[in-house]
Amino acid sequence: MHTGVKLHGWDWWQSIGSPKSVCAPMVDQSERAFRMLCRDLGTELCYTPMLHARLYTEVPAYREQHFDAAPDDEPLIAQLAGHDPATVLRAAQMVEEEVAAVDLNFGCPQGIARKGRYGAFLLDEPDTMVALVSTLATELTVPVTAKLRLLPSASNGREANHADSVALCRRLEDAGASVLCVHGRTREQNKQNSGRADWEGIRQVVEAVNIPVVANGGIGSMADVEACRQATGAAAVMSSEALLENPALFCSNVDPKSGGYLDQDELARRYLAVCAQHPPCKGAAMVRGHLFKMLHHGLRSNPDLRDDLLVARTLPEMHGVVDRLAAARWEQPAFHTAHMRPELSWYARHMSEPGMFGSREQHELQRRDGKGGGIANAASTSGKAAAASAAPAAKGDEAASEPESREAAAKAALARRDRKALERQRRNRNRGQGTRSQRGKNRAAAFMALDS
Ligand SMILES: Cc1cc2nc3c(=O)[nH]c(=O)nc-3n(C[C@H](O)[C@H](O)[C@H](O)COP(=O)(O)O)c2cc1C
Repeated sequence: MHTGVKLHGWDWWQSIGSPKSVCAPMVDQSERAFRMLCRDLGTELCYTPMLHARLYTEVPAYREQHFDAAPDDEPLIAQLAGHDPATVLRAAQMVEEEVAAVDLNFGCPQGIARKGRYGAFLLDEPDTMVALVSTLATELTVPVTAKLRLLPSASNGREANHADSVALCRRLEDAGASVLCVHGRTREQNKQNSGRADWEGIRQVVEAVNIPVVANGGIGSMADVEACRQATGAAAVMSSEALLENPALFCSNVDPKSGGYLDQDELARRYLAVCAQHPPCKGAAMVRGHLFKMLHHGLRSNPDLRDDLLVARTLPEMHGVVDRLAAARWEQPAFHTAHMRPELSWYARHMSEPGMFGSREQHELQRRDGKGGGIANAASTSGKAAAASAAPAAKGDEAASEPESREAAAKAALARRDRKALERQRRNRNRGQGTRSQRGKNRAAAFMALDS
């Protein structure tokens, strides 16, 4: 929120309380309800999902569906994506009154960003990045921040080039960036190929610049938070995927109010309770996306409930699924306990290297003790079964299942057929129900209206 005096860098950072824990910008997932839940559980700074600058300026329905700031949701940084400084500035000016700062997305590695010339593809156009930062730094009443990936080495796109990354960060600082968030991976390190985050690259940026740096990548637990801060010297750490599954990451799953342990069932219930207060702008689909991550292993091991959740349209229906799943007493990843089971975690699904989840030291100890059965053990066990249990679903494919037998394969095929039938029904329903935005509004209204 703009205070009247424009602060910069560390002064601004201190003015928002020197946050140490940050909820990442996440398309369709860092919406207000999720942010509010995270804030209640120890997260000190949040980002909106990425907003496409041109669409934001041109399409009122896009604005309504994608920007959901509110006075009790602060400090909040709005993230924008685009390549044209004038367009991005126009979008930034439309949100600046409602946020603490505006961030530029230089990290999105997806094909759509290549096509639209934004995100991590601007890493190939450093002059454009500098122009964007300097335009916003000059024209806005709030600070501008930037979130970027590390630059690749010439010979191997998966390895970072620290010197080039540092030089680029210095240019962004000189152009007027108040904060840099460095995702310690290159553009190639994406989806199944994410791999371990390069904290050394982040450390070198921290050392080279005189503005706060937020470290992003590889934060799965509170032990990782400490390890990352020590390794990088960053002002704060940002979590994305791990926080989606465990919104209580930054309070070690200890309820700041009651002191009780927050398990996955409780987190799902709390999220639904926040949704009742702050209905997510995209309705049931958005909520379902969150529940699939929080309840990942429970839904995998209870496919009937997973299918119920797929067709649940209202908050009470979703509450019903969460209650039935809790009653089934599923095996939980048990974050931040001595019995932690990272191999059951959604966050850990691509992690086959030992120690990629949870504190590296903690896993080494578990491995040596022969305890843990965590990723370290799963990865070192030979055979496909171990690998499959450590890395189950494809990224973003929450509902994916892995048939382990012929019977399971047949069941999965039936479930797929049912899902396709439901999708057909949905498309038919959509016909004659107005524009996409109107349908979105109707869906959100129906989602809440039945919640009384
Ligand atoms: C569902 C999802 C949506 C994301 N959307 C955005 C986004 O809108 N803007 C952005 O800069 N990064 C986005 N990211 C990337 C994250 O902010 C973060 O940089 C990345 O996941 C690495 O952090 P992690 O290792 O904690 O998962 C997204 C990631 C996920 C999983």
